[in-house]
Amino acid sequence: MKTAIELENIRHEFDTDKECIRLFDNLSLSIGKGQSLAIVGPSGAGKSSLLSIAAGLEAPTGGMVRFFVRGEEVDARTLRAHSGFIFQQFHLMPELDAIGNLALPLRLKGRRDAFDQAAAWLDKVGLKDRARHRPHQLSGGEQQRIALARAFISRPDFIFADEPTGNLDVRTSEGVTSLMFDCARETGCGLVIVTHSSRLAAQADERLHLEAGKLEMAA
Ligand SMILES: Nc1ncnc2c1ncn2[C@@H]1O[C@H](COP(=O)(O)OP(=O)(O)OP(=O)(O)O)[C@@H](O)[C@H]1O
Ligand SMILES: [Mg+2]
Repeated sequence: MKTAIELENIRHEFDTDKECIRLFDNLSLSIGKGQSLAIVGPSGAGKSSLLSIAAGLEAPTGGMVRFFVRGEEVDARTLRAHSGFIFQQFHLMPELDAIGNLALPLRLKGRRDAFDQAAAWLDKVGLKDRARHRPHQLSGGEQQRIALARAFISRPDFIFADEPTGNLDVRTSEGVTSLMFDCARETGCGLVIVTHSSRLAAQADERLHLEAGKLEMAA
């Protein structure tokens, strides 16, 4: 039963007062569950825009986007409900402590086991003793581990990560990267990562390079 994202001949452009910025045209890409994909390329190439389109957060200007979850074709909203997101700027809720941040996605779904699951994930990312700390009391790497656990806690089919290690030093990045790939393997979810880090990209099953509107397989 297919769980996948299919982009067919998509085009994306932005109209500004002065000009029309075309990011890409005729771009096709298929991403399956259980597969990891890194999108690399220079700043401004359109990597974040492509990620937003693949995640169903934004519609392309042209072309076709199709989402499948367990054999059934679904709309963007349903895909988003089956997805987790990780950003460069962690985006934790400042007023909630670590366990509160982790439990939130499950609480919003009315899950009674929200805090038990949150405690288990806190342990998994090695931050059991930080449960009652609020984001400003945690280091960048610790905050990103919480954000990572929060993305995985709902057992999504896909995780979309935009520069997940962009704010971290090399050593912390490596820890967060291996944790992210371990969790993806363990849960069997698809992982789509935009990154400037060649070390991170090297760990993905596939690397695609986006530049000047062209998406090509990278080494
Ligand atoms: N809402 C918007 N309106 C107008 N232009 C936009 C909008 N969003 C993005 N752009 C432009 O589209 C281009 C690609 O942006 P995008 O954020 O996708 O690039 P990127 O490859 O992720 O870059 P970076 O590596 O710096 O994050 C940029 O030139 C950007 O200014
Ligand atoms: Mg970007």
